[in-house]
Amino acid sequence: MALGAGLVTLRRFSRSVPRRALAGHTAVTRTAPKVPGLPRKAATVLAPPEEILGIKPDEKYNVPAGVREKLGKNLLLNEKHPLGILWKTVQDYFAEQDPNCKFFDTEKPVVSTVECFDKLRVPPDHVSRSPSDTYYVNADYVLRTHTSAHQCQFLSQYPEISSFLCAGDVYRRDEIDASHYPAFHQCEGVRLFDAQKVSKEEVMEDLKKTLEGLAAHLFNLKTGEDTMRWLDEYFPFTEPSVELEIFYQEDWMEVLGCGVIHHDVLRNAGLDPEKVHGWAFGLGLERLAMVLFGIPDIRLFWSDDERFAQQFTAQSFTEKTKFKPFSKYPPVLKDISMWIPEEFVDNDLFEMIRDEGGDQVEKVDLLDEFTHPKTGRTSKMFRVTWRDMSRTLTNEEVNTKHEKVLERVVEELKVELR
Ligand code: DAH
Repeated sequence: MALGAGLVTLRRFSRSVPRRALAGHTAVTRTAPKVPGLPRKAATVLAPPEEILGIKPDEKYNVPAGVREKLGKNLLLNEKHPLGILWKTVQDYFAEQDPNCKFFDTEKPVVSTVECFDKLRVPPDHVSRSPSDTYYVNADYVLRTHTSAHQCQFLSQYPEISSFLCAGDVYRRDEIDASHYPAFHQCEGVRLFDAQKVSKEEVMEDLKKTLEGLAAHLFNLKTGEDTMRWLDEYFPFTEPSVELEIFYQEDWMEVLGCGVIHHDVLRNAGLDPEKVHGWAFGLGLERLAMVLFGIPDIRLFWSDDERFAQQFTAQSFTEKTKFKPFSKYPPVLKDISMWIPEEFVDNDLFEMIRDEGGDQVEKVDLLDEFTHPKTGRTSKMFRVTWRDMSRTLTNEEVNTKHEKVLERVVEELKVELR
């Protein structure tokens, strides 16, 4: 099973290697906009609403209706939903570790770029700030791309708390397949220590012990070198930064990224690093839930299909419930073959297709790409797999949507169909 969602989550900030190369995406590569730094208007935007969670859109708005619909679904608050069950299990573990640990899961997913990026030392030109990666409500507000966006807020709001967890839905523009979805869930954890009494090495030790314990609890593993390993990583907000992998189902699997909170981040939250320091981690929930409950497709988390929902109860973690796949309905395949302009970005196409097709779009694969030797023009051919999870799609209804996609790619992405 391809488990890219979590990989995207953690590799996003890696500075040495292009994110896509590491993220396990095989089928689709991306053409960068030719003029670096030139603000590109996202191509797939419908008329903006008056406001999103109290924030007024401006010309930078690029949130399609299909993504907007996900806001407020609150899957984590549903104790019978696999993501809610996992979130509860993580909370139980931390409550046992520290009875004073606080849990937050009702923060609004619209946050300022200051909280999401600046305070966390994400550089001004970092790819994660680009409108082809991130949903902007306006120039100053985004749909949070990670739950780290709440770190400074909680640190300054509750200076007396020594540890907290914050979970919620996060949003990133991405490609479409069984393990990538523009909305997913993360949990952020923080623990603080008295800097006069606890050394940085001890903070790191506590971090590793705590998170190995979490992984052991979730996956029913013994801690030790043959089941868990730590790899050096890079995140702008922690120093040093590491990543935990576990050996599970015959392979190493990335579980989370973490590290000692960078002093600048503490200062940005109004804390004095001479007095307090601590650790932080970020955990992607979908991928872990997919593995724990045997869920093969990330879109199932959002489905209203009773055949999915009724398989889980609040006891599913302890009872080790595994999802029993129900039979799939047949797909309808549609190809799009086109000459692309230089500034073409695959993500814009994916978004447009998802905008028209919603969850009926199972995946989009790049089947062919070549550059004409004489004209220098590039051609790409994508295959869109359409499939509904609860009924058979007719060719006619898919055609209507596919035609709309074709119209829009020509109109908005300036491609020439072949
Ligand atoms: N925010 C990171 C991401 O989404 C995950 C993360 C990594 C959070 C390290 C942390 C951390 O707090 O210390 O990719």
